[in-house]
Amino acid sequence: MTSDELREKYINFFLKRGHERIQGKSLLPENDPTVLFTTAGMHPLVPYLLGEDHPAGKNLVNYQKCIRTGDIEQVGNYSHLTFFEMLGNWSLGEYFKKEAIEMSYEFLTSPEWLGIPAEKLGITVFAGDEDAPRDDESAAVWRSLGIPEDRINYLPKADNWWGPAGSTGPCGPDSEMFYDTGRDSCGEECRPGCSCGKWLEIWNDVFMQYNKNSEGKYESLVRKCVDTGMGIERTVTILNGKKSVYETDVFIDIVAAVEKATSSTYGKDDEIDKSIRIISDHIRAATIVLGDTRAVTPSNVGAGYVLRRLIRRAVRHGRKLAGEAVPFPLLSPIAEVAVEKLKGPYPEIIENTSRIRDELDKEEKKFLETLTKGEHEFEKLLPNLLKNPQKIMSGRLAFKLYDTYGFPIELTEELAGENGLSINREEFEEAFRKHQELSRAGGDQVFKGGLADNSEIVTKYHTATHLLHKALRVVLGDHVAQKGSNITAERLRFDFSHGAPMTGEEIKRVQDLVNEQIGKKLPVSMEIMELEKALAEGAIAFFGEKYEERVKVYSIGQKGEEFTKELCGGPHVENTGSLGKFSIQKEQSSSAGVRRIRAVLVT
Ligand code: SER
Repeated sequence: MTSDELREKYINFFLKRGHERIQGKSLLPENDPTVLFTTAGMHPLVPYLLGEDHPAGKNLVNYQKCIRTGDIEQVGNYSHLTFFEMLGNWSLGEYFKKEAIEMSYEFLTSPEWLGIPAEKLGITVFAGDEDAPRDDESAAVWRSLGIPEDRINYLPKADNWWGPAGSTGPCGPDSEMFYDTGRDSCGEECRPGCSCGKWLEIWNDVFMQYNKNSEGKYESLVRKCVDTGMGIERTVTILNGKKSVYETDVFIDIVAAVEKATSSTYGKDDEIDKSIRIISDHIRAATIVLGDTRAVTPSNVGAGYVLRRLIRRAVRHGRKLAGEAVPFPLLSPIAEVAVEKLKGPYPEIIENTSRIRDELDKEEKKFLETLTKGEHEFEKLLPNLLKNPQKIMSGRLAFKLYDTYGFPIELTEELAGENGLSINREEFEEAFRKHQELSRAGGDQVFKGGLADNSEIVTKYHTATHLLHKALRVVLGDHVAQKGSNITAERLRFDFSHGAPMTGEEIKRVQDLVNEQIGKKLPVSMEIMELEKALAEGAIAFFGEKYEERVKVYSIGQKGEEFTKELCGGPHVENTGSLGKFSIQKEQSSSAGVRRIRAVLVT
């Protein structure tokens, strides 16, 4: 079965069981400061999991592109990827554990669908702790379907829980489905969920049944939701009896392109294979990020930093394989092959093909210059470093390489590792923190279950963002389109297309216009309507975004004389009067042709 067939089967299975199909969204999450990328299918659905109505209904199905870089070090093994596709079915207050698990089981094992032998499945469920009891309910459903007790493993929150780590919000136990790869187990204690390589996780059913309140207590939710996620690449691997994701249709052409570009052969040597896999994964991920509707370019902060790191790591492994004979450009020909594979499910990539090529070539070139300088510097430092009896390189020195030569810490770490040295990472982080706002720069801030904050102040910033967006269009013109939005409890940040810095006068006019709407105490209302109707009525939509046929439109102002109408999942305040005073703190460049505004609400 190919990945395209799996995608189609999954969607059809759930359509037949009363689900509506919804579109996957951008890789760059909107209004979620807890993550740099969309890390799970549930991210774009957070407002609905928090209680908003979804215009498409209560039972939903889709596929979503996701990026996770938290375990980037593991990429290169058989199954870990930075970019992966997630299939998901959702229940917003309709069905719960029994139905969700039964459907998962049927889809996995029925010969009509995936036909995986039931005896190859292993299950994990939540073991229970002081916050919430053991999830016996899920275990009982699995047993009723014929999964024997010895293939059900009970694990703690770290493994079988999804939801806010520190903050408040909906959360709950999850039940994960594993496939027995047939590899040797690590011993008698090896059970489903073990990471030795025997058990491969393919699907996760999350049951949002609690709300973690501000006192840290877990209260039962009235509207319980189901969020599930199946990894396409891994599932295709096991369905085709392959050893790794790289041998499936998802990767086979990309791997061949890497072999060609680096004059190497896959399948003969472990070290070479690892480098080929890393390049394949990283270029596929860089391609999908650069091909996204929301333009991210390589940089030293946030998502741009992750992208830079993926590209640079791929170049370095390319050089490892091909040595000095490495061709230029190395990466963009591989990316072209990735585009061919990805453009079916993600057609937005087609119009961004030249950006993908240009940005990859530019970054590769820049990095080659950096590499030559940085490696040279490192070699100069090496004799002294090797004299250190503890074989530790100081974090300050590593930071100097980063700061002076743009040499990424991960590469310094790799080079150091190759010479039997480790780096004082803590010291490096400290130097780095001093150097820039680390909170958004690290790139690895993948929080499991990063449910966005839905506090009152964040909701106010959402509404203020709509006012700002419209005010910018009034003052600067209709070419202004939202390129990104990021809200925390302290401020809003809004990126938009505009070719020149705003003048002081323009900033003032925008600010005044927003404050005028706040002063008018305008009502905020929501209506679900046909996409076409919404657009015909002038509702602002995100250019290039895929929408469902029915959408939610938030209007600010009295009916017939709205100040703004915008397609949005919500939530919003009920009246602009509650927002306080709106103040623009900064207007600056974000990337070519894109400006960025930071603003606060003063109450
Ligand atoms: N949110 C869960 C996961 O990512 C299920 O979709 O695994």
